[in-house]
Amino acid sequence: MSPSPDRQVAQFFRIDDVPPAILSEPAPLRGCSGRLLSHNPDTGQRTASVEIPAGWSGPVGGDGGTLELVILEGSLTIDGRQLGAGGFMAVPTGCAPLAVSCHRPARGVAIWSPHFAPGDYYDSRPRIVRAVELPWEPTVFPAELQAPGRLHGVWSKSLRLPDPVRGDVHGGPKGLLRIVNLVSGFVGDHRQESHPGCWEEIIWLSGDFFMPGTGRQAAGSYVGNPSHHRHGPLLTQQGCILLVHTDAPADFCFHDPPIPASLISAYMEGVSWLEAPRHMRLPHGPPWGSSPSEAARTAGLAPSRAC
Ligand SMILES: [Fe+2]
Repeated sequence: MSPSPDRQVAQFFRIDDVPPAILSEPAPLRGCSGRLLSHNPDTGQRTASVEIPAGWSGPVGGDGGTLELVILEGSLTIDGRQLGAGGFMAVPTGCAPLAVSCHRPARGVAIWSPHFAPGDYYDSRPRIVRAVELPWEPTVFPAELQAPGRLHGVWSKSLRLPDPVRGDVHGGPKGLLRIVNLVSGFVGDHRQESHPGCWEEIIWLSGDFFMPGTGRQAAGSYVGNPSHHRHGPLLTQQGCILLVHTDAPADFCFHDPPIPASLISAYMEGVSWLEAPRHMRLPHGPPWGSSPSEAARTAGLAPSRAC
């Protein structure tokens, strides 16, 4: 399946496989090169991988929407402050534009939300932070609420504020944006999950990940999960860091049957610790050994559209 920005369809692709194009949106970054990763034609919200050339400068902000930008390489000067890889800028709807310039070619992920009203997020004030300076906050993965004592290991940094957690529902009224760290050995649940109330997209920033039905994820992988789309279980051998974005509060639903233990161990013990994580499409399970793969097919772990 070719990469598509259609949020109604489950997506799994490598960001660099999306052909670059000159961006017309978000307006503040018009003229920069980028790759459109997802788009909601109803709200106008779009997510893009952007490349900002050295020498670029312009005012960023205004009345047209909220721009959020995560810098992954290079550096920008934002309102007099220099930010490099791991820097984050949010310019909410209605705030005064910021002066932004680029001295070292920068690449990052931009989210443009024209449907965000003034006051939806950030108390209507720009947020400019280095992610490394934000504390990792422990996050209770919803499966843990259902199975006390289950292995935990989710740490998060909230980029979009406010980012409330109410029981097992996460994020503000128009969605969350977090950097998430899954620790080595994390298994989210032994079942697939879905999010009835939101669409979510995940961009891998580092580490390894395996999700039956898609395959293996690594830095530069992209997954889009429409509402009700079953996905998972979520496994990481070495740990990984993700950028997670939703368009509404994230709720969780888990689906039997559980994944076979043999499939978990096939990934956790079958992949070399010396191997660099890489993106790989594996719709029916891992390729090493026939039994785990067969177990995955028997368990019906291929993606399903219904909740
Ligand atoms: Fe999910």
